[in-house]
Amino acid sequence: MNVDIGNALDTSPGVSRDGLERLDRRVERAHGRIQEGRERGEHGFAALNLPERCDPREVEDTVAPFGDPRAVVTVGIGGSALGAATFSAALESDVDAYFLDNVDPAHARRLLSSLPLEETVVNVVSKSGTTAETLANFLVVRDAMQRASVDWTDRTFVTTGPSGNLRELAAKHDLPALDVPEGVPGRFAALSPVGLACAAIQGHDVEAILEGGSAAADRLDRAGAGSLFETPAYAYGAVTYALAQRGAGVNAVMPYAESLETFAEWFAQLWAESLGKDGLGQTPARALGATDQHSQLQLYRAGPRDKLVTLLRPTERPDLEIPETDLEGLSYLGGSTLGELLDAEFEATEASLAAAGRPSVRIEIDRVDERSLGELLYAMEAACVLHGDLASVDTFVQPAVEWGKRAARGLLGGGEFPEAEAVRDKETLI
Ligand code: PA5
Repeated sequence: MNVDIGNALDTSPGVSRDGLERLDRRVERAHGRIQEGRERGEHGFAALNLPERCDPREVEDTVAPFGDPRAVVTVGIGGSALGAATFSAALESDVDAYFLDNVDPAHARRLLSSLPLEETVVNVVSKSGTTAETLANFLVVRDAMQRASVDWTDRTFVTTGPSGNLRELAAKHDLPALDVPEGVPGRFAALSPVGLACAAIQGHDVEAILEGGSAAADRLDRAGAGSLFETPAYAYGAVTYALAQRGAGVNAVMPYAESLETFAEWFAQLWAESLGKDGLGQTPARALGATDQHSQLQLYRAGPRDKLVTLLRPTERPDLEIPETDLEGLSYLGGSTLGELLDAEFEATEASLAAAGRPSVRIEIDRVDERSLGELLYAMEAACVLHGDLASVDTFVQPAVEWGKRAARGLLGGGEFPEAEAVRDKETLI
């Protein structure tokens, strides 16, 4: 994996080479804190130890008894769904994966009426075991299975923390259960059973995902000899921080691969929920190349100078030849491939932004496979931790998200929560 920050230098907003060199010292100190946090297994930093901590065999053995299902439904939300969704969207499988995160009744009805329930595995994921959306969706799925005379206890497993409703449910019905590792916030849990169990059911190589994560972790371990900007995760974390400081309040993440579109969604959660604090943060925008060259790119190149564009692509992909044609005006296309055209679009976007003095960062992964995805997700998590440290925000908490969760539970009668009272009174507490 490679991160090229050259096109974020001396742009507007932008950062100078000197500015980055000055930042190098601060990155070095932050690196020391990150390594210390990892060594002590501190809350949040513990996520950066997952590639070595997580046992792929435990995940595979837990899902093995489900055999070869036709479908898997992951019931979870936020960090309990987006890692699994990223792997699932990126990698091909004969097992269809679906996600019930939102509590939209129309979506749930449509999904449940189309699923072969007797050949579906239900993967319920909640670290707290108390999230209203997840538990409500689980109850709806369980009811659908019971109505279809499917033994739901045979088709369901959970991934959860040490206590909470889900842990109790698993114990009561003797369901297979995987643990959310201690000290790992939801959005940093993709390289744990939270993200990997669904991948294992779909037949993906979980060990290779973790190996990719380990490769990125090794690069963190080796950081310190020479400029820290030689470590891709740190280069990205530091440059996004420097640009945010200089007015790039928006980070538009634009993968040039349909299979990575969900990665942009995962990234958006990681970035927004971790860094959006104390009046700081960088708003993630989701885009897709080349499609959004025909829409959002106009704004990125000529709108307010408040954006960084992160361009992401695999350097190798399965390709498809464009057939020759006798239409004269189209003859330039014949004989080349869709992949070549997509690469040309990527480079054109990068050059077009540079020509307008707008910053972009280029991230390249080898190909869309398990190993590269593990490396990419780990590197983005480390980048986020570094950015958060430089910005002095508490990267690993999410008080605004928790506020909403408590309010929703309280409004439905799930306990006494002052947040629910505030909604009732139409007051704003945050
Ligand atoms: O990153 C986070 O902490 C959140 O996005 C959580 O993952 C999300 O709210 C779901 O929480 P839980 O896993 O407790 O159901």
